[in-house]
Amino acid sequence: LQETALSEIKDMQSIEQVESLRVKYLGKKGEITSILKEMGKLSAEERPVIGKVANEVREAINDAISSKKEELKNIEKQRKLAEEVLDVTMPAKEFRVGKKHPISKITDEISDIFIGMGFSIAEGPEVETVANNFDALNAPKDHPSRDMSDTFYINEELLLRTQTSPVQVRTMKNEELPIKIISPGRCFRFDAPDATHSPMFHQIEGLVVGKDVTMAQLKGTLDMFVKKLFGENTKTKFRPHNFPFTEPSAEVDVTCFKCGGEGCPMCKGEGWIEILGAGMVHPNVLRNCGIDPEVYSGFAFGMGLDRITMLKYEIDDIRLLFENDMRFLNQF
Ligand code: PHE
Repeated sequence: LQETALSEIKDMQSIEQVESLRVKYLGKKGEITSILKEMGKLSAEERPVIGKVANEVREAINDAISSKKEELKNIEKQRKLAEEVLDVTMPAKEFRVGKKHPISKITDEISDIFIGMGFSIAEGPEVETVANNFDALNAPKDHPSRDMSDTFYINEELLLRTQTSPVQVRTMKNEELPIKIISPGRCFRFDAPDATHSPMFHQIEGLVVGKDVTMAQLKGTLDMFVKKLFGENTKTKFRPHNFPFTEPSAEVDVTCFKCGGEGCPMCKGEGWIEILGAGMVHPNVLRNCGIDPEVYSGFAFGMGLDRITMLKYEIDDIRLLFENDMRFLNQF
């Protein structure tokens, strides 16, 4: 019995197998146990002799089991250590850190300048109503920008906003006066992509409405803004223009921040760069938004963030901004 048991134990490969052998021989119903239980039936002479042998066998099996268990545990430990071995000389995995997109950087920079002047940020949905994007903004029904070939319509009432100006409408309808907000965001126009056009682009719009808001304040605000963004020597020039939602309206040029107005490739030799649309909020727009134009007045301005990003970082193709090519993005 001892010999079979010991050779069985030797062959065991796992702690569970050894344990089942322990039960088989030494357990309550095990073979040794049952021999010891039978001892009572033996004669007084036989008992000590058989008992001694049985106990020795039990001890031997017990020892064999313990050392086998120990051995198996050791093997397992070695295996684990070998498996978990760490080669500290291996090169580390490349860890890519994200960065802000250049448009986000410019948006943050511009927002910070206006926040510094007391503006707060307003946002609106990219899917807008035709009413907010055009009607309330005084765009006549036959205005070219309303054309199907210029605007992404979702249905007769909804479209992808073509400008951030509908945020003006939402703010004037819903907020208390006075208002002093900027609204950065995405806009969409039905344009074929080329170096200067993208069907998706970004604008930031400003709106100030209150008592005695004047054109002089508009000029002062924009002058301060462009000096902070392009440098203290930057000058502005207002050229008369026409927007449905402002009257009077202007396009605003700044002196080229590269050549300071001398003329260089950046400003196509002109010394000036157009960056903004602006004007005094049209009385019809105020009225459409429930504000009495006899009591209140306002100014608004809007600019293309993609264009300003391209100017500041000297990017010559707007499509680069949206291709998400890491070789391009990593330069910022
Ligand atoms: N929304 C105008 C545009 O898209 C820009 C603008 C905004 C002009 C506010 C005047 C006032 O061209």
